Amino acid sequence: MFLRSTYLATSVALLSILGPTSTLAQVAAPATAWEPAPASEGNTASVAGSRSQWESTFGDTLWFYDAQRSGVLPDNFRVTWRNDSVLTDGQSVDLDLSGGFFDAGNMVKFIHPLSWVLTQIAHSALLHGDAYTTAEQEYYLDSTLRNGLGWIMNASSQPDELYVAIGNQSTYWGGDLGIPEPRQIFSVGRDRPGTDVFAGSAAALAAAAMIYAGTPLPLSQTENGTVPAGLLDTAYATELRERALVLMDLATTAEPQQVYQDATDGVDWAYPSSNYYDEIVLGAAFTAMATGNISLVTTALDAYDFGAFPTRDGVLNWDTKDPLVPSLLARLSVAMPDADSRTDFARFQADSEVWLDLLVNGTMDETMMTPGGLAWWEDYSTSSSLNPALNAALLCLWSADLTSNSTKSSSYLSWAQGQVDYTLGRNPLNTVYQVGLHPNSATNPQSSLASGGDNIDKIDTEPLVERWVLYGAVVGGPNSQDQYYDLRSEWQQSEPALDTVSPMVGIAAYFVNQGSSAPEPFYVGLTAARVVPRRPRAGLSGGAIAGIVVGVILALAILGAAMWFFMSRRSPLAASRRRRKFMQG
Ligand SMILES: *[C@@H]1O[C@H](CO)[C@@H](O)[C@H](O)[C@H]1NC(C)=O
Ligand SMILES: *[C@@H]1O[C@H](CO)[C@@H](O)[C@H](O)[C@H]1NC(C)=O
Ligand SMILES: *[C@@H]1O[C@H](CO)[C@@H](O)[C@H](O)[C@H]1NC(C)=O
Repeated sequence: MFLRSTYLATSVALLSILGPTSTLAQVAAPATAWEPAPASEGNTASVAGSRSQWESTFGDTLWFYDAQRSGVLPDNFRVTWRNDSVLTDGQSVDLDLSGGFFDAGNMVKFIHPLSWVLTQIAHSALLHGDAYTTAEQEYYLDSTLRNGLGWIMNASSQPDELYVAIGNQSTYWGGDLGIPEPRQIFSVGRDRPGTDVFAGSAAALAAAAMIYAGTPLPLSQTENGTVPAGLLDTAYATELRERALVLMDLATTAEPQQVYQDATDGVDWAYPSSNYYDEIVLGAAFTAMATGNISLVTTALDAYDFGAFPTRDGVLNWDTKDPLVPSLLARLSVAMPDADSRTDFARFQADSEVWLDLLVNGTMDETMMTPGGLAWWEDYSTSSSLNPALNAALLCLWSADLTSNSTKSSSYLSWAQGQVDYTLGRNPLNTVYQVGLHPNSATNPQSSLASGGDNIDKIDTEPLVERWVLYGAVVGGPNSQDQYYDLRSEWQQSEPALDTVSPMVGIAAYFVNQGSSAPEPFYVGLTAARVVPRRPRAGLSGGAIAGIVVGVILALAILGAAMWFFMSRRSPLAASRRRRKFMQG
């Protein structure tokens, strides 16, 4: 609403640049595919001249995105146990939306988390792009980006329309050949806007356009990041940034400005969005930097001023990008210093430090450390607990080059190191929460594809051992007492998703970029036995037990038991992915 007077829509002129796009990769596939090392090699110290442990971790993260692909797979695909899948996605609206990625273990596709994930990966490649080259990941970065970007390009290829989700809250648990089709599809449009998804998708396309144009982000006030040179493709960059402009036009001119689940029924069970200011800043800032469009700098700064930034608490995740926003505007202020009188590096540097300082000093509201040292956000960390911690860790690593003094930089770096170490084995259970890296890695990520199981009622036992290793998957994470049961049915703990892995892409790229001065990942040399605690008897709720104890009638007990049975059957998928329902902070 606040932007209305700024732009009068010119959507007619934009029609010419709509339409699907080429998905041909720029980087040639390597003669021999990069394959994950077996977990048994997790204790082998890195030696100069061969694949380092950080390169292993890094490569595995991108391998995970291959395992999550949907649609037609490329020839000689390295994830040999995957098949072409759900080719009918989009047919009911005359689009091919069969590509892209499955969000998690439940096979749905959602543009809101997808665009965040692509933005986060692209952001990493605009700061530490050399790492992708060093670790021989250019091809996998390119193919991962194009697979996601191509899906967004297709989903936005009809005028004034954006497809935002495919699939519903079904309870399908099985392989990739049996997914029930056709699947439900959900969209927003100019007449029923999803301001957050318009702008969030623009952010992903524009950030990637910068990679394909060879334009790095400023690393600090005086130094640029690096981009992986092999991805240079200026024609593709042009396609991406033109579509980003179309989507930013929708984000700023379609009324009313609102979150996407207000525009379409049937999507708020999974990834409800809390607001759209953060996405507007991200989308406008990246699109401005990708295109040189100065009025979008104004859009970004207006949204920043209107949206009560900087934030003093809350998480950084697929929904809430607020803690990242000031640092991006600091970089924009370096890249486009004359664009607006408000592009003031020192202001955004200071704003960026507000959230980070509260975090690393342990004084942020509603946060704590678990006894074992995992950063914990009340209300948010009860599922996918590692995700906000790793997102924060990555922001700390990225921000250490932007600070006003070296004391802050070292405190950010050491806080980040603590969370990364925890994830990679420095925790009370000696568990490595990334699959396939080490003998102590978690082994039962909640993925029906990797598990090979097809009986939801026996999700933990059929099969007992996952059929395939889902390399690179960062699982949800332990509970607030550092307990992790490694059970598929405990989806809050065991479910990996596109967005649980993407911070680790950036973290690993950061450490690869440090070269031999980086410490080894914590798991190297971890020989203490892994502890897998037994899940406490799930059983009846406290209320039901109390009811029995005081002799409430039998019918009530039966009802309680029936409810528990119902919930325990449904929870692995039914409640899956509804990670948090927010109040605005
Ligand atoms: C892929 O297809 C093969 C049969 O051709 C099947 O055995 C395998 O389970 C399928 N993979 C998945 C992930 O469902
Ligand atoms: C950073 O990159 C931009 C765009 O490529 C360039 O114009 C600028 O001069 C570079 N700045 C530094 C400090 O190298
Ligand atoms: C800059 O962005 C605005 C807002 O999306 C748009 O209306 C305008 O046409 C763009 N300018 C150029 C030169 O692309």
